[in-house]
Amino acid sequence: MPRIVVFLCLLVLSIFATAQKQEGLALTPPMGWNSWNTFACDIDETLIKETADALVDSGMRDAGYIYLNLDDCWHGERDENGFIHPDPERFPSGMKALADYVHSKGLKFGIYSDAGDETCAGRPGSNGYEFQDALQYARWGVDYLKYDWCKTENLSAPGAYRTMRDALSRVGRPVVLSICEWGDNDPWLWGEEMGHLWRTTGDIINCWDCEVDHGTWSSWGILRILDMQEGLRKYAGPGHWNDPDMMEVGNGMSESEDRAHFSLWAMLSAPLIAGNDVRNMSKTTREILTNKDVIAINQDALGVQGFKYKEDLDRGLEYWFKPLANKEWAMLVLNRSDEDQKIRFEFKKEDVIDPDFADQGYGFNANFSRARYDIYDVWEKKELGTTRRTLKTTVKAHDVVMYRLTKITEEKPH
Ligand code: GLA
Repeated sequence: MPRIVVFLCLLVLSIFATAQKQEGLALTPPMGWNSWNTFACDIDETLIKETADALVDSGMRDAGYIYLNLDDCWHGERDENGFIHPDPERFPSGMKALADYVHSKGLKFGIYSDAGDETCAGRPGSNGYEFQDALQYARWGVDYLKYDWCKTENLSAPGAYRTMRDALSRVGRPVVLSICEWGDNDPWLWGEEMGHLWRTTGDIINCWDCEVDHGTWSSWGILRILDMQEGLRKYAGPGHWNDPDMMEVGNGMSESEDRAHFSLWAMLSAPLIAGNDVRNMSKTTREILTNKDVIAINQDALGVQGFKYKEDLDRGLEYWFKPLANKEWAMLVLNRSDEDQKIRFEFKKEDVIDPDFADQGYGFNANFSRARYDIYDVWEKKELGTTRRTLKTTVKAHDVVMYRLTKITEEKPH
């Protein structure tokens, strides 16, 4: 082909070629650890290295917590060419060395920036430096970017996230892009195109059911955040997840509340990003965070978020279901109330059908009147018989029961 034709073809291609999101990342909800919930701005390379060691020694990494993510406040200044550098006192060995250490432990390395002029803690933002930042992160070996939304006056959210998406794509290193604009601009409507997960709410805080008012914004307890997820499940799926924020397990709530929080996040197909001090966690916290059966429900390959099937408002009970691959189901009963509650669930009489994906076929109708399932209690680690029986149990205050239902027979319709 004449060179001029090749040149013209390339020219046309380059005009029409827009950068795309990096596909194939986060096909199940990302799992990892983030510094913010416990350490806020008090982070340095010693903490991060100790955390990497602890993620390995505690079994967290092997349970799936792969990303070790720095949040706000790692930043130093930009150099005369505009490249960002870490705070030299807190990260004297530099980010490349730290990322190498994290990678040497079989983990991936995540970092934080902001689409505006400054991060929420007043460090340099990426506005106007997106490509340089993406390049610098790639040089360091960054695998995950949480991209925040402070100081973004006059920016469009889809536009700003698209700019960073394109910068990351053009640099070419695979990076999970975590959209963090708190649900303010309906990110579920455009987030799939721009990134791999999007925050749906303001910041979480370690309480069961509270709002903490900070003046211009609030942080929210577990039940408040749960309630804000309503209507969003249809937007999530492999490679694009609703993010109800990083976890508060091990940060001061009761064991029941931590178990409920973790189970609910699993049912919501939420990213499981631990936010506790994993260097000093209790056995109970570790056992909650590494419950492999609960993690398997979160990480299920079908990638369909759970739904609230019914509720008993007087007693604070909610019945949740989540379709799984191979026509299995997860079931959870949440007790929001301050009293233990007895429950009775007669499977045969319950019409559990997925409200958003039922048209996708057979596996989205549990068909309890005709199909029989084995019931496995994922917290008690016990087989409980089949769905032919009526389930009778007690759900403790501020706690859950959670089951995996595996289909064993199905009677043919008459
Ligand atoms: C925002 C985010 C938090 C955290 C802080 C850091 O509030 O929502 O998750 O990243 O900024 O300053």
